[in-house]
Amino acid sequence: MGGCAAILHYSNTPTLQFNVMPMQIIEHISEMQHWSDATRRDGRRIVFVPTMGFLHDAHLSLVRDGKKRGDRVVVSIFVNPAQFSPNEDFAAYPRDFERDRGLLEREHADVLFHPSVREIYPEGYQTHVNVDKLSGLLCGAHRPGHFQGVATVVAKLFNIVRPHVAIFGEKDYQQLQLVRRLVRDLNFAIEIIGHPIVREADGLAISSRNIYLSPEERQAALCLSRALVRAACMVQRGETRGRVITEAVRGGIEKEPLARVEYVTLCDSATLEPVEEIQESALLALAVRIGKTRLIDNQILKP
Ligand code: PAF
Repeated sequence: MGGCAAILHYSNTPTLQFNVMPMQIIEHISEMQHWSDATRRDGRRIVFVPTMGFLHDAHLSLVRDGKKRGDRVVVSIFVNPAQFSPNEDFAAYPRDFERDRGLLEREHADVLFHPSVREIYPEGYQTHVNVDKLSGLLCGAHRPGHFQGVATVVAKLFNIVRPHVAIFGEKDYQQLQLVRRLVRDLNFAIEIIGHPIVREADGLAISSRNIYLSPEERQAALCLSRALVRAACMVQRGETRGRVITEAVRGGIEKEPLARVEYVTLCDSATLEPVEEIQESALLALAVRIGKTRLIDNQILKP
């Protein structure tokens, strides 16, 4: 197995930089749109990184990527109530605005867009965006309403920030595909970039949810990335049958006593529909509960 560990993509880069530049903080939609229109008129390319805050190295690597792809980087921090399922606690989602602001200043983000819930969903709000098929697969089957909430807020943020480019992490692979579909279907003139999963040195995909893991659970959580390495090794050795791969992966994860598999699915990397056999490539996607914490991870497998 050791020989295959390098298959997972590690793109950690140091967080600390020392030049602190002024960053504009915008809370109102009209001001954000005004800034974007003026920036576009000046011929500047706007890159957008949407987040729900409580930033970590994976978010910051999206911002660094954004700095290379355009002239101005806008980061939004908005904890979107519409994407929390009824059994998920919106109020308990971690928030630390001052820390986030400092981190973004150090990364030289140009604008931090930080609207209130009332600003995004004013009294009487009743319009929602639904990406029909993609919303019901994988995580969508376990998180009712989640992807409608994501699609709705992303469409609104695109209309507010008016970026040329938007960057999303590949850890939320289904979200990325849903946004790509939404952009095509609703004719947004925005280039969507998927940024490779950022991992800790031991392989754990970086996520805001990792803070909920106890030290013992943190160790147990390595079963996800190990399962992906195992699958990649199987494929390298010639295995292409979906059922054989997913059963081996599930069996490996289930050996971890703190882990409860929600799904292990091999699917088409664009439509996310399950596949029985890997042809040119396929996506292996996992959702696993470690104690009470739900973690996801994924890997493209190519024979
Ligand atoms: O990935 C996230 O943080 C959120 O789903 C997003 C894209 C910011 C929409 O609320």
